[in-house]
Amino acid sequence: MPQESTPRRERKRTVQQMVLVGVIASAAGIALGLSIHWFPSADSTQADKIDTLWDVLIIATVPVFVLVTVIVLFSVLEFRMRPGEENLDGPPIHGNTRLEVIWTALPAMLIVGLVTYAYIVLHDIEKAPAAGNPERHVQVTGQQFTWTFAYNEGGKKFTSAQLYLPVGESVKFDVKSKDVIHDFWVPDFRMKIDAVPGITTHYRITPKSNAIGNHDIVCAELCGLGHAYMRQTAHVLSKPDFDAWVKKMTTRPAAAGGGGGGAQAGTTDAKTLFTQGNPDTSATACGTCHTLADAGTTATTGPDLDKVLKGKDAAFIKESILNPDAEIAQGYQPGIMPPNFGDTLSAAQVDALVKYLSDVTNK
Ligand code: CUA
Repeated sequence: MPQESTPRRERKRTVQQMVLVGVIASAAGIALGLSIHWFPSADSTQADKIDTLWDVLIIATVPVFVLVTVIVLFSVLEFRMRPGEENLDGPPIHGNTRLEVIWTALPAMLIVGLVTYAYIVLHDIEKAPAAGNPERHVQVTGQQFTWTFAYNEGGKKFTSAQLYLPVGESVKFDVKSKDVIHDFWVPDFRMKIDAVPGITTHYRITPKSNAIGNHDIVCAELCGLGHAYMRQTAHVLSKPDFDAWVKKMTTRPAAAGGGGGGAQAGTTDAKTLFTQGNPDTSATACGTCHTLADAGTTATTGPDLDKVLKGKDAAFIKESILNPDAEIAQGYQPGIMPPNFGDTLSAAQVDALVKYLSDVTNK
């Protein structure tokens, strides 16, 4: 009968059109997803595996998204209520076993497959280096608002405000926090973990040969007013350069007094230091946490310097910068201010700040 065959042919054509639209949209979505540079350069051996996992996820999930979207859009158009149908019931449907088995089994298989693959990648990127290959441990301590890196190179222990790593050698980070939750992240290395008070967390990476150079270190967990300033630099060096750096760090005079720990560069203009810190060494700007009328800062994480430094001498101010927990202003907690300004500021910079603070708070 012509009346029956026409709608059936039309329905078949509609399904064919939907499949065609779906295939084209999936291909376009996958091409777009793979052409976007989602991540910075991949500078650890772990980064390559993570980026491949990402690409596989795009290829697997874009068609699912397209399938759902096409069916939703088609249903909205095709089965919408027409004028005059307000009081009609829909057709009585009592399930479709074959369809239900398919839409349960296929997604389940897809998820099990992706979970298995992701587990294999995770196992891979957390794997210790093969026996006989050395692995360096670096203790990473987060605190409001700085990272400190502690090394133990052949029994010689020292700390650094910047992270230095030799290329091609596995490093395991033991990550701790002194105060709140931070998150230790070097985007170029991809790996990332929370620094949680009371426990030690870990991850390991191996810098690739193309990684020689500087990489941003970011705190990836909102940890307070200075969170955005909790940025430092990871320097990946050739093995000889790294050895030379270790030698420099282990032979420098202990307790350098007013700083001098490799922080010779940078401005000694105190007001600039106060408001911008020392970008070369990631010394946090004082104004990030402190109010000081002369510098125009109004932060309240730390004490108001106009008040607490009034009537104090230069020696007190210097001690407060280099050894902040020596005396804690009333109403504030110890361990909040970074204790490493002796490393991140040069002696000249500390002296300039002491003079500036002494001058403007004792006017
Ligand atoms: Cu530390 Cu955000």
